[in-house]
Amino acid sequence: MKKVLITGANGQVGNEFTARLRKDLGKDNVIATDIKIKPDSANATEGIFEELDVTDVKRFRELAHKYQVDAIIHLASLLSVSSEKDPVFAWSLNTGSIINGLEIAKELKAQFFFPSSVAAYGVDAQPRFNTPQDTFMHPITIYGASKYAGEMLANYYHWNHGVDARSVRFGRLVSYKVRPGQGATDYAVAIYFDAIEKGSYECYLRPDTMLDFMYVDDAVDQVLKFLNTDEKKLTHRNGFNVTTFYATPEDIAASIKKFIPDFKITYKLDPVRQAIADSWPQHMDDSWARKEWGLDPKIGLDQMTEIILTNLRIKLKNEGAK
Ligand SMILES: NC(=O)c1ccc[n+]([C@@H]2O[C@H](COP(=O)([O-])OP(=O)(O)OC[C@H]3O[C@@H](n4cnc5c(N)ncnc54)[C@H](O)[C@@H]3O)[C@@H](O)[C@H]2O)c1
Repeated sequence: MKKVLITGANGQVGNEFTARLRKDLGKDNVIATDIKIKPDSANATEGIFEELDVTDVKRFRELAHKYQVDAIIHLASLLSVSSEKDPVFAWSLNTGSIINGLEIAKELKAQFFFPSSVAAYGVDAQPRFNTPQDTFMHPITIYGASKYAGEMLANYYHWNHGVDARSVRFGRLVSYKVRPGQGATDYAVAIYFDAIEKGSYECYLRPDTMLDFMYVDDAVDQVLKFLNTDEKKLTHRNGFNVTTFYATPEDIAASIKKFIPDFKITYKLDPVRQAIADSWPQHMDDSWARKEWGLDPKIGLDQMTEIILTNLRIKLKNEGAK
């Protein structure tokens, strides 16, 4: 990868990829794009930024050809809860933009990556703990269905059109740089903001809801390792399960208490988000990623909590001072 176009660069994951790849490849070799520019953001001020609505295939193609990119990291997507509110739009955005991106990657002989999700699994994937990568995939959300369709499209474009298309399934990625949204597992970001700002958090998932997590810096590291792996070493190409640790809201609260002893968690369940979280495996078996390309994430729960609390305090203090 020498020159990359990133879609959805202003999002939680996109911010991290953009900063990291500008460091690795040089700022002139990273074309950060999102539907709207945020004029004061590092994305806009510290390198190339172009406005791109990924449903606009003409503009997507123009930009990729203009900069002659050799990789597309496609992060733009509607997340789980927003997707349920408008399934027709979610399908056309999430799935349509993947096929558009794959067509453009084919034209440019570029590598193509998109992040799939644990949401690609359905309630019948067994066992719920250590769920294998290759098993029944019957997602019950439109977001999960669009992610699984994306995996199939990426496989199709690889086998039939020679595109070096790759994807991984993430559980929840945790970051402190962007405020949480309305995703089914956004509690894992919101809890840190509220721990610092209020000393307590009201959680909308049951205390024992177990899911997979990865600190976002670790996720970027691991994806870059994956994308740099010689394709001859890969048996699978899409839908690699990747995770660092599994945890419940109770576990995350206990980790926060190690640093903020007075922190309190209470629960007020949101049935919609609980049903979405319950449809996902508790923990994915990621042994194929470990075997084929050396998945080796480093940052566990307590270390992640320490990093987030330390940096979030500074961030919130700086924001307060503005
Ligand atoms: N965050 C996680 O825990 C997680 C887990 C699994 C998979 N993923 C996937 O990773 C990717 C990034 O997730 P995120 O958490 O950064 O999401 P996010 O919502 O923070 O960012 C998504 C970005 O996409 C942009 N976008 C939306 N519609 C667009 C359009 N039509 N054209 C161009 N840009 C558009 C948004 O402006 C936003 O900046 C998504 O594909 C998501 O499904 C994320």
